[in-house]
Amino acid sequence: MSRWVEIAKVADCPPGSGLECVAEDRLVALFNIDGSFYALDGVCPHQGGPLAKGCVTGHIVTCPWHGWQFDVTTGQHQLSAKLVHPRFNTRVDGDHVLVELP
Ligand code: FES
Repeated sequence: MSRWVEIAKVADCPPGSGLECVAEDRLVALFNIDGSFYALDGVCPHQGGPLAKGCVTGHIVTCPWHGWQFDVTTGQHQLSAKLVHPRFNTRVDGDHVLVELP
């Protein structure tokens, strides 16, 4: 059964940025794209880099360690159609951002 977990304040993740958050026992990479929030598993599937600390261009994040790129809205890797990184639904409740954990 899924559950919603508060992970950040809206003000902590301004448009065009990423924020590394902890949701229970996992790292979540939260991104604000033009005022909408998206969340991916925060650990890059290549070698464990911190996706939230990557450069965000449009809706693409580039892992800071070796440059793998993912669409933050879908988790889709930009070179491999087979690789879709786990993502989480988000919602805003007042001043806080929540993610839906499975
Ligand atoms: S750890 Fe992310 S690209 Fe290598």
